[in-house]
Amino acid sequence: MKIFKTRDYNDMSRTAANIVSAQVILFPKSVLGLATGDTPIGMYNQLAKKCDQGDVDFCAIKTVNLDEYVGLAREHEQSYYYFMWTHLFNKINIKRENVFLPNGQANDLEKECSDYEAIIERMGGIDLQVLGIGCNGHIGFNEPSSAFTKNTHVVNLTESTISANSRFFDKKEDVPKRAVSMGIGTIMQARRILLLCSGKQKSEILYQSLYADIDPIIPASILQLHPNVTVVADQDALSAIV
Ligand code: PGA
Repeated sequence: MKIFKTRDYNDMSRTAANIVSAQVILFPKSVLGLATGDTPIGMYNQLAKKCDQGDVDFCAIKTVNLDEYVGLAREHEQSYYYFMWTHLFNKINIKRENVFLPNGQANDLEKECSDYEAIIERMGGIDLQVLGIGCNGHIGFNEPSSAFTKNTHVVNLTESTISANSRFFDKKEDVPKRAVSMGIGTIMQARRILLLCSGKQKSEILYQSLYADIDPIIPASILQLHPNVTVVADQDALSAIV
């Protein structure tokens, strides 16, 4: 595991964007696994800038997102579909047919989950998976639990995640209670993982994820077993470690 310690959020975003850019430049047909949340927004801005300047070309890149809320229309401002188009896809030269997110409005969610796994498999798997980490240690929407989940599945969100995400909704009751998420197994099959983390409020969970026992109660702790993880975190997030 490589850990890059950065000064602050902006520095984290630039460093992460450089790593993703290198992947895209060296392997222009890469499959990128993408994440939502506040953490990667700065990186997406940087990537959009690099694309605009002609330094990075996304025309042959495919992307697959970690998760999506169940029940929100794609046009809903809090859907992850909307998030990705707003923060990244509308700003880069990616082809519409090359981006994939779970459909949280599918009638048959079980089928949606197995279809999503099949899409990833047909692409040849994920070359570089970007991850944020929740304050409870979740990656994607894989919540603390008694076992690591395997494939894409429907998740009941925990109270702590619903509370954390309520900041984006008018009221807490509006936060969807379920989501479709890649499983821990799906994430672990990515050839390379880029974990981003910023802020003091994440320092304890980052420490536990990287150095405490591997336990599904801290889903991100499984990353200790992945052979190719790069952590880019600012000094506040790393304050419990170095
Ligand atoms: P955040 O969320 O980037 O908004 O902190 C991360 C996550 O919950 O995975």
